[in-house]
Amino acid sequence: MARSGLDLPLILGIETSCDETAAAVVRGGSETLSNVVASQIATHSPYGGVVPELASREHLRNIVPVVRASVQEAGIELTDVDAIAVTSGPGLAGALLVGISYAKSLAWALGKPLIAVNHLEGHIHAVLLEQAELARRSKLEPLPLPAMALVVSGGHTHLYLVRKHGESWRYKNVGRTVDDAAGEAFDKVAKLLGLGYPGGPWIDALAPHGNPAAVPFSFSQIKAKAHRRGEPGALDPATATFFSFSGIKTAVLRYTQVHEMAVAIETRRAALALSPGAKPADVQALCDRQTLDLIASFQRAVVDDLRRKTFRAAEQFGAESLLVSGGVAANRELRVRFTAEAVEHGLPIAFPSLALSTDNAAMIAAAAYPKLLTEDFAAATLTADPSLALGNAVERAANPL
Ligand code: KG4
Ligand code: ZN
Repeated sequence: MARSGLDLPLILGIETSCDETAAAVVRGGSETLSNVVASQIATHSPYGGVVPELASREHLRNIVPVVRASVQEAGIELTDVDAIAVTSGPGLAGALLVGISYAKSLAWALGKPLIAVNHLEGHIHAVLLEQAELARRSKLEPLPLPAMALVVSGGHTHLYLVRKHGESWRYKNVGRTVDDAAGEAFDKVAKLLGLGYPGGPWIDALAPHGNPAAVPFSFSQIKAKAHRRGEPGALDPATATFFSFSGIKTAVLRYTQVHEMAVAIETRRAALALSPGAKPADVQALCDRQTLDLIASFQRAVVDDLRRKTFRAAEQFGAESLLVSGGVAANRELRVRFTAEAVEHGLPIAFPSLALSTDNAAMIAAAAYPKLLTEDFAAATLTADPSLALGNAVERAANPL
C-alpha cells in the first residue's frame, strides 16, 4: 500500500568531503525539511585554496552544531530519523573521516541504519531531489531517462549516463577530465589574476563586463591511448569524452606575462586583501578592460568546451535529457548557453537551485533514499575513500546498464 507523504522515511544526511560542513533532513527522497551548510570560505580564503588540515579542524568544530541545527530546523527529534546517510568519498581523507565517524556513532547510538553515499552521486541527486519536489507539487513530468549528467565542480568534471533500475539508480561513467577539474581552472585563473577564493563566483560576476571574443583560447585534442582500458578509472577510449583544463590555465598565465599585467594583478591582490568583504562592483573597478576581456574569454572557452562535449556525449549515448550539477553549474553563462542549446535540440535540461549546486547534505540524504528502500546499508567498518569512483569499470561489469 502506498504510504502517505508524512509517513515516508526521514533521512539525516551528513556531508564533510571538502570545505563545507553540511547536514540536512529529507523526507521520502523528495521533501527537504532542512538544509544547513557551514561554509569554511573565510578560513581558506587567505591561502587561496582549501588547506586539508584546516578543513578537518573546522569540520570537527562544526559537525555537532550543524547536525543539531538541521534537526531543529526540520522540527523533528534525532530519534525520529529512519537512517543516517554520509558521504564516504571522493574527497579529502581527514575531512571525510569527521563526517563518517560522527555518522557512525549516531547510527550506532540511535540503532538506525547507516548509508554510504558517493559525493558525485549526491551531486546528481541534487537535481533529482528538486525535480521530485517540483513533481510532488505541480505534477511535473520527471526527467526522461537515460539522462546525461555533467558533474562539474572544484574537484570533478565527469559525465555519467544515468538510468533507473527498479528503485536503484545506475551510473555509467562516459567522460572525465584528464587533469584539472573545470572549477579548479576557475579557481586557479582567479588566483593568478589576483581575485578572491573561490574564483568561480568572481569570474562569473566579472565576465559579463568583458568581451568573450577578445582572446582566442583553444583546447587541444586529448589522445585516447593515454587513457587505456585497464588503467585505474579508465573509460572505453572508443566512446569516452575527455576534458582537460590545465592548458587554459597556463595559457591565461602566459597571456598575463606577455601583456605585462603583473603590476596590475599584484595591486588588485593587495587591495582585495585589505577589503575581504568586497562586492563584485568594487572588484570590477579594480580590473582594466584587458583583464575583463581575458576573464570573459576564459569563461566563454570553458563553458563552450563543456557544452560541446556534453551535448555530443548526450547524442552519442541516446540520452533523453540532460542534467548539470556541482559548483560550476551555478555559473550563469553556463546555464544560459546550455539551456539555449538544449532548446535547440529539444532536450529537457535541469540544473539544481544555486543552494544545491555547491556542496550540501540534502543531496546526500536524497541519494540515500533509494538505498534505504533496497536496504543497501554500510558496514560498521565503513571508512573514507578519497578516490571513490562512481560507475567505474568494476561496477559496470557487475551492473551492466
Ligand atoms: O561542488 P562544489 O561546492 O565543491 C566540490 O565538490 O568541488 O564546487 C566548488 C567549485 C569551486 O571551484 C568554485 O569556484 C566553483 O565550484 N563555482 C563556480 C561558481 N560557483 C562556484 N564556478 C563558476 N561559476 C560559478 N558561479
Ligand atoms: Zn561537490
